[in-house]
Amino acid sequence: MPLQTSNNQAVSYPHEYWSSRLGFVLAATGSAVGLGNIWKFPYIAGENGGGAFVLLYLLCVAVIGIPVMMAETLIGRRGGQSPIHSYALLARQEGRSRGWQAAGWSAVVASLLILSFYSVIGGWAIAYVLYAARGIFDGVQADGVGKLFTDLLARPGELLTWHTVFMLLTILVVARGVRGGLERAVTLLMPLLFVLLLLLVAYAALSTEQFLPAAAFLFQPDVSKLSAAAVLAAMGQAFFSLSLGAGIIIAYGSYLPKDVSIARTATAICIADTAVALLAGLAIFPEVFASGLEASAGPGLIFQTLPIAFGRMPGGTLFGTLFFVLLVVAAWTSSISLLEPAVEWMLEHRGIGRQTSAWMVGALVWAVGIVSVLSFNLWSDVLLFGRSVFESLDYLASNIMLPLNGLLSAIFAGWIMAKVATEEELAMGTGIGYSQWRLAVRYIAPAGVATVLLSSSGAIALLFR
Ligand code: PHE
Repeated sequence: MPLQTSNNQAVSYPHEYWSSRLGFVLAATGSAVGLGNIWKFPYIAGENGGGAFVLLYLLCVAVIGIPVMMAETLIGRRGGQSPIHSYALLARQEGRSRGWQAAGWSAVVASLLILSFYSVIGGWAIAYVLYAARGIFDGVQADGVGKLFTDLLARPGELLTWHTVFMLLTILVVARGVRGGLERAVTLLMPLLFVLLLLLVAYAALSTEQFLPAAAFLFQPDVSKLSAAAVLAAMGQAFFSLSLGAGIIIAYGSYLPKDVSIARTATAICIADTAVALLAGLAIFPEVFASGLEASAGPGLIFQTLPIAFGRMPGGTLFGTLFFVLLVVAAWTSSISLLEPAVEWMLEHRGIGRQTSAWMVGALVWAVGIVSVLSFNLWSDVLLFGRSVFESLDYLASNIMLPLNGLLSAIFAGWIMAKVATEEELAMGTGIGYSQWRLAVRYIAPAGVATVLLSSSGAIALLFR
């Protein structure tokens, strides 16, 4: 039966809506808040020298992240379909080339690449739920947790098992559809994670006496640490953490009711996401310093520090188990969002049912994920430009593809879509700051992204030689 999309086009596939503004906010926040905040932000900040990186990160969120999130939400709501079809439809409406759908394709490819390694890390988190529950962290010291982590990575079979479990969890929810699966999971669990992080920050502060050094590390910018690579890392991390440039916000926006203010929701989501990342940093760095671990220790950072805290605290087994369960849930609400754009496209394009689409795309991503599993052990000495296979995938998807796709969505909303259209979308609900937004998506965000990408690729240095 034909249904109406948010844009009043008749479409021939079933298209659900979020039940409310809150539904969208929760789902988009569930997508944004994930391993990116708790696992990735601290270790990338640590690798890039702390304060200067954090400052750049905040700048990227405010100046590029918020306007681009608004742009993607409105492209989705206006287009009413998957990223690929939304771009195609809106471009056609403006008499522009259908070639714009390539921007949607690029977003979908990025989302699937990210999911392939995201699921492997989600698998680590599942393994840690069991470690915590079995009381393995009890009284453990830094070298003990270090070994636990490196031993886990050395076992491809175990990593593959947890990667498979995580992918299954993801597929199962996506197969059930937008409301049944996605919305419900987030409502209770995200606030709980937030509270638990707050408790962890307090505990780390009280039990290590390293809170001030940690805060100084995160918030005192040391300009000597600024490099083109750090700027690129900060921008890539902002896109990754906010789920931008991967078609997710467009796909979720396509389920967004008309009476919701895009400016207010996008801002709220960006603030919540950033708060969680900063809290994670404040929970982890006191432990990093207290245990003598290097801030630049890399992807294992949280897995090599938090267990020490859990092992020391009263009730640590329970607390640690709860924490890793919530980490898995946070990762899960992000991974379902990573699968959704491709599945939505299959539904529209081929009329393949949601169940079948979810299983097909999920199987493909699972297979690609095996590459990341192996890059931590059997293939650990395979390096591409000095990076492991996992690091290369992450670098390509997060630092290059996401910003490029975000740039395209800003240009699309700022230059391709008619002003009346974007104005109308942003005026719904409480429309605030239209002219600032337009300035941001037409000039500031594209110039910012282009400068960072060009300078880190060395192109600008070449020009001025
Ligand atoms: N934002 C998610 C996180 O921080 C990851 C993600 C990236 C989700 C890109 C969707 C798109 O964990």
